[in-house]
Amino acid sequence: MTVVQTRPTLIERWRDYLPFAVDDPIVSLNEGFTPLVYAPVISERVGAEVYFKCEGANPTGSFKDRGMTCAVSDAVRSGAKAVICASTGNTAASAAAYAARAGITCAVIIPEGRIARGKLAQTLIHGARVISLQGNFDDALEVVRRLVEEHPISLVNSLNEFRIEGQKTAAFELLEDLGGELDLLCIPVGNAGNITAYWRGFREMGAAPRLFGFQAEGAAPLVLGHPVDHPETVASAIRIGRPARGEEALAAASESGGSIRTVSDSDILAAYRLLASREGMFVEPASNASVAGLLKYGADGASRVVCVLTGRGIKDPEAALEQTEGALIRCPVEMPAIEEAVLGEREAFAEVASVQAPGAATVGA
Ligand code: F0G
Repeated sequence: MTVVQTRPTLIERWRDYLPFAVDDPIVSLNEGFTPLVYAPVISERVGAEVYFKCEGANPTGSFKDRGMTCAVSDAVRSGAKAVICASTGNTAASAAAYAARAGITCAVIIPEGRIARGKLAQTLIHGARVISLQGNFDDALEVVRRLVEEHPISLVNSLNEFRIEGQKTAAFELLEDLGGELDLLCIPVGNAGNITAYWRGFREMGAAPRLFGFQAEGAAPLVLGHPVDHPETVASAIRIGRPARGEEALAAASESGGSIRTVSDSDILAAYRLLASREGMFVEPASNASVAGLLKYGADGASRVVCVLTGRGIKDPEAALEQTEGALIRCPVEMPAIEEAVLGEREAFAEVASVQAPGAATVGA
């Protein structure tokens, strides 16, 4: 049977730059090719041309899929029967999906009660073995490192080189979409794999935009210069105190002429609401660190900026519901009450109606 494939997989598309031969098995869910979307509101605020790289458009809803297609394909190529990772949620969801696709076992170790509901749901439904550790992400990563030393399980955290290799393709896509012209990249930093991957990707293409990485204030070991034992932030995805690729991330930022700085939880949440309400972008709290940082520190003379939006908003429904508490309008089945509830501020509706249909009767007239 011939299966129709609408576009090449990430590995096929960038094979010349990736450690895979033509005959190697590929485990793919058609990751990559994510949209680059102009950001009018943020552009206006910072006085630069700003775009969003929408990594939530990947199959499991985060950038992790770029690296996971490579890590799991390599695991299958080397005959591994199981993969494992520690995760704040997205790596777990991605590993679980790609392992399901490959027909191999997946185990994930997550910090108990500390990952967003959507990510937990994804990981469970894909059939991974989910171990809820009574510790934080850094404890989970330590445990996983020890496990793979003793057991024949393939580690698919970003310590795995194949993850970085896959994730560097996001930089390739950016350069392609922007005709090579990019001054500044803003990106959230947690375990520090992604900023490392972008820098590798840019260097391989001979590009060198400045990299601005952003950590949450309560989980900012790279800014403080030492590990954080009890990292805290609303952005659960980047609640990490001992980043595995911290040294590389710092090197990438400084080689590029950029830096790694902090944003507060309230900066992150302000960006979260702004992106959703004005740009139409619903991304999970951690993803907003890139935009929060750009708004806080400015574009610093750059004329073209990309903010990486790492994961979709729907992964963390609780965060959105908390931010909109009280906004839900409850209503009995009675016309006057419903009218009042729907029309609310009548003027707002009148305006919309006249914009949409000039000359038409206004609502309520
Ligand atoms: N944004 C999101 C949505 C993430 O899930 C992560 C990391 C990051 C940013 C930071 O990327 O770790 O490469 O610096 N999530 C990992 C996980 C830790 O387990 O899903 P990084």
